[in-house]
Amino acid sequence: MAQDVAQEPVADEVRGLFELMYGTCKAQVVRAFVLLDLAGALAGGPLRPDELVVRLNSHAGATASFVRACAALGLVRLEPDGRIAVTSLGGKLGTGAPAAAHVRYLLGPGVTRAYEHMKDVVLRGRSGGEVHGQHLFDYLGDHPDEGSAYENVMSEFTADCLAGLLTAHDFSGYRRMVDVGGGKGDLLCHVLSAAPQATGTLYDLPHVIELARDAVAAGVPDDVASRLEFAPGNFLESVPGGADLYLLKSVLIDWSDEHVARILATIHRTAPEGSTLLVIDWFGPDTAEEVAADPSMALRDFFVRTIVGGRYRSRREFEAALTNAGFTVERVISAFATGPSHWGLLVARR
Ligand SMILES: C[S@@+](CC[C@H](N)C(=O)[O-])C[C@H]1O[C@@H](n2cnc3c(N)ncnc32)[C@H](O)[C@@H]1O
Repeated sequence: MAQDVAQEPVADEVRGLFELMYGTCKAQVVRAFVLLDLAGALAGGPLRPDELVVRLNSHAGATASFVRACAALGLVRLEPDGRIAVTSLGGKLGTGAPAAAHVRYLLGPGVTRAYEHMKDVVLRGRSGGEVHGQHLFDYLGDHPDEGSAYENVMSEFTADCLAGLLTAHDFSGYRRMVDVGGGKGDLLCHVLSAAPQATGTLYDLPHVIELARDAVAAGVPDDVASRLEFAPGNFLESVPGGADLYLLKSVLIDWSDEHVARILATIHRTAPEGSTLLVIDWFGPDTAEEVAADPSMALRDFFVRTIVGGRYRSRREFEAALTNAGFTVERVISAFATGPSHWGLLVARR
């Protein structure tokens, strides 16, 4: 009896482990749900299994099994008459929905291939991409579906902090801005609309600049779009010159200390003396107490290391990186907007 009692927690732990191991399968069911656009197929109302098979042009037995798995995850509901209905949760994963972009990027091979190399990430201190031979950003350039999903996810993060940023910093005095690694241009377009005197250059990898051109043409008013230039390039090598404001948002987190030093040195080399560099990024914990207060940070940090070789940095680490690169840090705001972690802002002078 005493032995049974002693064994019970162990059995629970093992059950928990199996849950973890099946996590990959569950996540990929969600991805298949998105790739097959089951939410779209069921948007017009519940379908009989044979109707769904025709709609998906799929295998009947495998579809029935997949639908049961989706029901187990709460993405669809099986009606008493056997028809399949999309649930409220499943409905949030339709094509074009923000959550579907997260799924396409986070559960796509660009990220999951890196996970397969976690052991070597630990042993070698390199990202999964470096271990298997293709950095995530190169992969995203070769895979437009995941590449545009990634940039959509980044735009969503930007939307989280825009209002706070525009309140925290006065953009009215700048003449020419460069957004370094600016993605689809959400940040720069919003800053330009708050600073009607300024022009801006969006600088990113060539495939992202193409996405940005389309996004700006489709949704940015002319008075902002007419003040915006696009510049494809590689910030590890060069950045556009002649600006009085350089923006660097959610970029440094993706890079190792060596790469961070190189990116900052590149900007320092080119930015005119007296120009401003704004670093906007997620701040990691500074103290052991802060680490203990946010256990999910540990997983997010290892995620970033694995997929791109970057890491979360504390306010002090950002300040040190900027100072070492030759910038003078004039102002730091530790939490100017809320989010999954703290949005930090550093204002530095070249
Ligand atoms: C995390 S995203 C941030 C995008 C944008 N700043 C934002 O906050 O939404 C990082 C960006 O850096 C860009 N990037 C990565 N490597 C780059 C490089 N070598 N040169 C220029 N841009 C690069 C990516 O394409 C991506 O748009």
